[in-house]
Amino acid sequence: MKFKFLNIEFKNPVILASGPWWFGEEYFGKINFQILGAITFKSLTKNERIGNPPPNILIEEYVVYNSVGLKNPGVDKFISEIYPKFKNFETALICSIAGHSEDEFLENLEKLNKLENISLFELNLSCPNVDGGLFCFNENSIKYILKGVKNITKKPVIVKFSPEGNILPYVELALSYGADIINLANSPIGIKIDIEKKKPYFEKVFCGFSGRAVKPIILKKVYETYKAFKCPIIGLGGIFDYKDALEYIFSGALFISIGSAIYYDYKIPEKIIFDLEKYLKNEKLDNHLPLVGIAVK
Ligand code: DHB
Repeated sequence: MKFKFLNIEFKNPVILASGPWWFGEEYFGKINFQILGAITFKSLTKNERIGNPPPNILIEEYVVYNSVGLKNPGVDKFISEIYPKFKNFETALICSIAGHSEDEFLENLEKLNKLENISLFELNLSCPNVDGGLFCFNENSIKYILKGVKNITKKPVIVKFSPEGNILPYVELALSYGADIINLANSPIGIKIDIEKKKPYFEKVFCGFSGRAVKPIILKKVYETYKAFKCPIIGLGGIFDYKDALEYIFSGALFISIGSAIYYDYKIPEKIIFDLEKYLKNEKLDNHLPLVGIAVK
């Protein structure tokens, strides 16, 4: 299943998404990180963030609600304490970058760009749970951040979008300013009501949501983005088995990313790799590349 893209060897197209597995902690020994195509760390800000007041996550059968608020140790602690545990992993490492301002993205990247074994950077321009997190809907922010980023790093840059509204003009802008891959998508924004307490479940009222329920919403974004631009896309949202993965690949995803599925079963990412491999063998294909976008008309 291996393939080369942007000068990087990927074992397969399956990525572990930023967020649900944080920075490893409780998942060492449970998720088989090194068989994955790539793994994406939780988004990093300049300073440590404790995130939103709890509760932060609610897991239901078809939906995972999140109101984390970019909880993370900050760039410096990541570099000194977390990166060393992963730097020799035999999988591509993706650093996800967040920020409170356009300049903070660049400041964070300056530091992270010195880490030799990080293969790609992901710009989280679409955090649903912090005020002003949706940089992806501001043309000036997209231009400023991408111009700056491209001046700092030669490594490939992923831009992660929100699935809210018409994203195509913003994706087009990001591509024209050098985005190498488009990640579709971050969590849509919703709300959960606590019917016992007769009030919103989360302190911040609105929240991100993911899980099985978001698949058709985000699959549509992948389909229409691929149709418009034929660009490299990471499909992310409600992928629980290899059939979900194939729907994304057929709709134009070059990579597929697994997020909240690991809350239900740690083994889902490796099961998807195993089942995809079996499917491709049956189709007499060495990798998935001939299938990318095959359903798009
Ligand atoms: C958070 C950030 C995200 O980008 C996301 O998709 C979900 C949650 C957060 O930290 O709140």
